[in-house]
Amino acid sequence: MRMKMKLLLFLCCVLWVSADVLHEDLAIDGCSEFDGEKMYTLDGEEKWYADFKQGKGIDPQPPFVDHTSYPGGYEAAVTNQQICKSNLKTARVVMKDLPPERDPPSSLIIYTRNFVNLGEKNSLICHVSGFYPAPVNVSWTKNGEKVTEGTSINVPFPNKDGSFTQISRLDFIPQQGDIYSCSVEHLALTQPLTRIWEVEKTQAGVGPAVFCGLGLTVGLLGVAAGTFFLIKGNECS
Ligand SMILES: *[C@@H]1O[C@H](CO)[C@@H](O)[C@H](O)[C@H]1NC(C)=O
Repeated sequence: MRMKMKLLLFLCCVLWVSADVLHEDLAIDGCSEFDGEKMYTLDGEEKWYADFKQGKGIDPQPPFVDHTSYPGGYEAAVTNQQICKSNLKTARVVMKDLPPERDPPSSLIIYTRNFVNLGEKNSLICHVSGFYPAPVNVSWTKNGEKVTEGTSINVPFPNKDGSFTQISRLDFIPQQGDIYSCSVEHLALTQPLTRIWEVEKTQAGVGPAVFCGLGLTVGLLGVAAGTFFLIKGNECS
């Protein structure tokens, strides 16, 4: 009975925390001389952003979630951009010139969205983080040739420390021997940063088999050792 009471109390506490503390709703407004951004996020997920090139709001969430709509959001974002740019101009004049703070990306990782099966549709993800200011340019190559088809990049996402993260993806079909690269350009870099990903290197299909074999061996050894000590123990008593 006591055990049950304690368990209930614990669950209540967890519910309260998750309702009041753990969620983070964020609205981001930003501009530079040449670029701008307006985005709403929930717990680090993009809920909505303004695409100033296409001239509309974009809701990048998958179809199975409840969507939030922002009526008039795009128009408001455009107005905010004008205010932001005029504030930036004023700030530049007042501060003579803004301190040229520039941080190159501190992390650049390339990986695939799904487990690699040759001939099966997949996506390569290039995850760039820790840079300031935004944005970065990301370009892709396949076997040394530039690729633009099937590529996309999300709007800059602000990190807790004020730097930014951007994620670029390339839809592709893995074929034996193909080599892909993603290169990142940023104001603070004199040369693009590049990461390479090879289809061969991942040894498609071999990894799981090796791990499974290894796990099975260790497991059987454990059973053997257990049996040994069980028999030994019985002999002694
Ligand atoms: C990104 O590409 C654009 C267009 O090619 C160029 O004007 C801009 O300078 C590039 N940005 C960086 C950070 O290299």
